[in-house]
Amino acid sequence: MKAATRVLGIETSCDETGVAIYDTERGLLSHALHSQIALHGAYGGVVPELASRDHVRRIVPLIHEALREGATDWSAIAAIAYTEGPGLAGALLVGASVANALAAALGIAAIGVHHLEGHLLSPLLAPERPAFPFVALLVSGGHTQLLEVQEIGRYALLGDTLDDAAGEAFDKTAQLLGLGYPGGPALAALATEGRAGRIRLPRPLLHSGNLDFSFAGLKTAVLTAARQGADTREKRADLAAEFEQAVVDVLVSKCLRALEATGHRQLVVAGGVGANHHLRRDLDAAAGRTGARVYYPPLALCTDNGAMIALVGALRLAAGLEPMTAPSGVDRDASRARSGAFGVRPRWPLAEVGKLS
Ligand code: KG4
Ligand code: ZN
Repeated sequence: MKAATRVLGIETSCDETGVAIYDTERGLLSHALHSQIALHGAYGGVVPELASRDHVRRIVPLIHEALREGATDWSAIAAIAYTEGPGLAGALLVGASVANALAAALGIAAIGVHHLEGHLLSPLLAPERPAFPFVALLVSGGHTQLLEVQEIGRYALLGDTLDDAAGEAFDKTAQLLGLGYPGGPALAALATEGRAGRIRLPRPLLHSGNLDFSFAGLKTAVLTAARQGADTREKRADLAAEFEQAVVDVLVSKCLRALEATGHRQLVVAGGVGANHHLRRDLDAAAGRTGARVYYPPLALCTDNGAMIALVGALRLAAGLEPMTAPSGVDRDASRARSGAFGVRPRWPLAEVGKLS
C-alpha cells in the first residue's frame, strides 16, 4: 500500500492568510484562515502594503493553529506547499519566505504552487469528489477560464475571457451601484431583492460559437442603465439581479458547450464567483438536464484558502511531480550556492504549469 503524504499549505497571495494540512489518505486535517476584509474595507479595495504586513502578523499563529487542530507535529509533514504566484508580490513573499525557511530547517521540500491550480482542484476537498478527467470553470476576481483537466498537472485551456474576469465585473458593477468591497457578495445580496428582466442587459458572446467570454461591455451597459435611472434601491436591485442573471446565463451556456465539446460528464466550478448561489442553482439545473454533474468546493473553500494549496502540494508530491527533499538542504555551501533559489511569480500563466494545449 502506498504511504500517505501529509503536506502543510500556506496561502498569502492577496487578502487572506490561509494555512492548512492535507493528507492523501485522510483528507483535510485542518484549515486555519484569517481574512483581511475588515482591514481593506475602509479603502474600497486591497492595499498591497497593508496586506503584506498583516500576513506577517498572522502567519505564525495560523501555522500553530493548523498543526494543533490537525493533531500533527512537524515530523509527520512531508513538505511545505506555498502559493508562488500569481498575486501581490509583497504578499506572496511572506508565504514563500516562511515556507522555504521551514522547509530548509526541517530538511523537507518546499513546493511552489500556482494559485489557480489550487482553485482548479479545490472541488477535490468536498465529500463528493469528481474523478479525472473533467471540465473546470475557473471564475475568480482575476480569471474566467474553461479548462479540460486531464489529470493532476495536465490542463488544456478551452476558453478564456477577452477582457474583464467575471469576479472583476461583479466588483466593478458593485462599485457603480454604490456597494462596498468585496463587491461580489454585496451585489449578489442586493440582487435577491430585485427582479431580472425589468431592465435588459446584453449576454456578451452568448452566441459566439466558441468558449470565450467578455464582461467589460456588460459593465458599461450597467453604467449606461444606471445613468438612465438607478435613483431608488428598487431600481438598483433590479439592475443587480439582471446583471447577475446575464453573467450566469453566459457562464452556464459556455459550460454546457464545453461539456459537449469534450464529451466529459463532470463539471467542476472553482474560484470566488463559484460561491454565487444563483450560478450554482442554474448550473445544477442545466447540467442535470443533459445528464452531467456539477462539483463545487465546500462553500468556505471557494475563496482563497490554504487547504487548496496543501492539496495541490500533496497531490503533486504523491504523483512524483515534485522532489521529496529540500533542494538547498542545510549544507552551508549548497545553500550559499543556491541562495536566491526561491522567488515568487506575481504574474505566472497557468500554461507554464499544466502543459496547456
Ligand atoms: O478566488 P477569489 O477569492 O480571489 C481571486 O480572485 O483569486 O475570488 C474573489 C472574487 C471577487 O471578485 C469576488 O467579488 C467574487 O470572487 N465573489 C463573488 C461571490 N463571492 C465572491 N461573486 C459573485 N457572487 C458571490 N457570492
Ligand atoms: Zn483566488
